[in-house]
Amino acid sequence: METRASMGRLFNPRGVAVVGASANPGKIGYRVVENMVKAGFTGEIYPINPKGGEILGRKVYAKLADVEGAVDVAVLAVPAEHVLGAVGDCAAKDVGHLVVVTSGFSEIGNIALEKELVALAKKHGMRVLGPNIFGIYSATSRLDATFGPGGILPGHVAIVTQSGALGIAMIGKTAAESLGLSALISVGNKSDIDEADLLEYLADDPETRVVLLYVEGVKNGERLVKTLREVTQRKHVVVIKSGRSARGAMAAASHTGSLAGADDVFDDIMRQCGVLRAESVQEAFNWVRFLSTAPLPSGEDAVIVTNGGGIGVLATDACEKYGVRLYDNQPVLATAFADVMPEFGSSKNPVDLTGQATGDDYARSLDAVLARSDMHAAIALYCETALFDTTQFADLLRSVYRRYAEVKPIVFALFGGERIETMIRELRSEGVPVFGDVYEAISVLGSLYRSWRRLTEGNEEAETPPEMDIASIRQVLARAGAQGRKFLLAHEAAEVAAALGLRMPRSILARDLDAAIRAAETIGYPVVMKVVSKDIVHKSDAGGVALDLEDRDEVVDAYQAILRSCLRYKPDAVIEGVEVVEMVRAGVETIVGARQDPSFGPVAMFGLGGIYVEVMKDVSFRAAPVTGRVAREMIGSIRAYPLLLGVRGESRKDIGAAADVVMRLGRLIAECREITDIEVNPLVVYDYGEGVKAVDVRILFRGTQGGDAA
Ligand code: COA
Repeated sequence: METRASMGRLFNPRGVAVVGASANPGKIGYRVVENMVKAGFTGEIYPINPKGGEILGRKVYAKLADVEGAVDVAVLAVPAEHVLGAVGDCAAKDVGHLVVVTSGFSEIGNIALEKELVALAKKHGMRVLGPNIFGIYSATSRLDATFGPGGILPGHVAIVTQSGALGIAMIGKTAAESLGLSALISVGNKSDIDEADLLEYLADDPETRVVLLYVEGVKNGERLVKTLREVTQRKHVVVIKSGRSARGAMAAASHTGSLAGADDVFDDIMRQCGVLRAESVQEAFNWVRFLSTAPLPSGEDAVIVTNGGGIGVLATDACEKYGVRLYDNQPVLATAFADVMPEFGSSKNPVDLTGQATGDDYARSLDAVLARSDMHAAIALYCETALFDTTQFADLLRSVYRRYAEVKPIVFALFGGERIETMIRELRSEGVPVFGDVYEAISVLGSLYRSWRRLTEGNEEAETPPEMDIASIRQVLARAGAQGRKFLLAHEAAEVAAALGLRMPRSILARDLDAAIRAAETIGYPVVMKVVSKDIVHKSDAGGVALDLEDRDEVVDAYQAILRSCLRYKPDAVIEGVEVVEMVRAGVETIVGARQDPSFGPVAMFGLGGIYVEVMKDVSFRAAPVTGRVAREMIGSIRAYPLLLGVRGESRKDIGAAADVVMRLGRLIAECREITDIEVNPLVVYDYGEGVKAVDVRILFRGTQGGDAA
């Protein structure tokens, strides 16, 4: 594939030029050369500076044109005003990738210069990383073309970061935590190369087992979603996104000049893509470290081995929180741990060896888990007791870990004083997954399980999309657009709903009383009656609406009352008649929507509807179109889901019919990009088998004049 081949050139270049290399150790252009030399880059290093001379024993070329060898990558570390000139030189030298460290582009509002940079590069077939970045590290070619602190350890975690400062800090942290990296890429302003380009490369990179993304704002979200969905079927992907709080979102927006997408949408879509979202950098580090070394489990059932009951209970709670399932075949547990269990211990899971357990009891219990093919992971908990010699215990944990390392996931949580703390630090630096907190330990195991489920779930089956008459919908939009409108009137929305295959309440326009009675009888009682008059906008205020009309007499009375009060309200109103509408039976009120999200493109939404929607904000989002499985998952993920399952003796609701509406709206928004928002509120969901009813449908679209959505 084109991008992958050229991305290979970025990560494994034959030669790298540093334009703006400096002999002054205080300058960025010096640091980049220094890091490249120290890291032992396998290709050629070409420092470029008009002054010539030498830097760290390397010949400095006065200009790029003087270099004879191939230059696949040029790191630009010259002030912004010199960047375009340098790009011209790079084009002449057939450079493949520009790593533009320089700041002073879109992040400070200098959008035109950034556009010029990208246009010039593209014209000559070059790709741009940055600008406004600290550089790139690639373990395969031992390339450290960054101005970071150096000392990056090679390993299996690739970090892609939008924040420069945090990325540089991460270099130090990875070194301190002995976490090895396969790559580290600063994407900065993402003027050209973005996360999706890099993920495509990293997905095929044999050294990379886990990708950690630090994201502030999403620019081309639709492509990112598509790429992430593919990559998470092959590799673990963890994301940290800033801007979770409203204040954080504002700070992020002004930071790299990109808009942070609405956090709820981001959260849900990452889940849909199988990406693990960490709350903090520390949590993300814990996860990626574990994910990069732990073997994949062969099943869901984990066993807790502990020497303390209380800590075992804590661990059980943590397992529930992080979605780790516990093995619960009691007879098997009793036999498996019979040899090691003291009389007053418990072989229920958590397996409680009690405070008198010896190191040997511990090791034998964990070996019992290792030996059984139906026990898939181990959680070893330990509270410091006088019976343990910590030095010996550390060795014991090392050897248990070695036995598990390639076979089953295992995590340790240890509690105790200074000696235990020291032991944790030591073991961690050796890569043993030891934590001082049960929740941290189980959170990492949970991350592995979540990612593993994604890795093993396979592709969503292709489904035949729901049938709908998109051509007719476009005609309705065109007619409304021709009138200069960017929204549909009620009868137009009803036409769209019909073409979409939605069931709306039946409605008949009646021009006189006889027609109203006939309409009510055709629809069936009870009915609602509403005045139809272009002179009366607020029908209820004018007394123009009558609800719950049970029979012929009530229709007659209501008809006359509506006419009387409307004429009293506006004596010169021209009344065209009344609309007789089916009275919608009560059910669970939900909301289904779809919109063009500024970050992610077409997005579908499902939630608890009616008057609660604003208060409860109990909604879920997914990138559209959505399959039936995803639509049902959206419905299942709202807090009010039990209402649809049927509570307090009520029967189960028609979840399948609601999912069908979500799919229809999702398909419409993905196919008709001119529709910016469509919302069915409420969508009343009836008992299983009785379907749903779309009571009100609203649609906004881009006008024909090419303007934005209203
Ligand atoms: N080709 C080669 N070298 C050139 C050049 C050109 N066209 N134009 C200038 N140079 C040389 C300069 O002479 C200088 O070398 P010297 O030290 O021998 O005099 C060197 O390149 C650097 O130029 P200088 O003007 O000294 O700039 P600087 O080093 O102070 O700053 C940047 C350059 C790129 C570091 C600075 O503009 C910048 O953007 N800093 C912010 C970087 C950043 O934070 N990025 C984001 C991180 S997350």
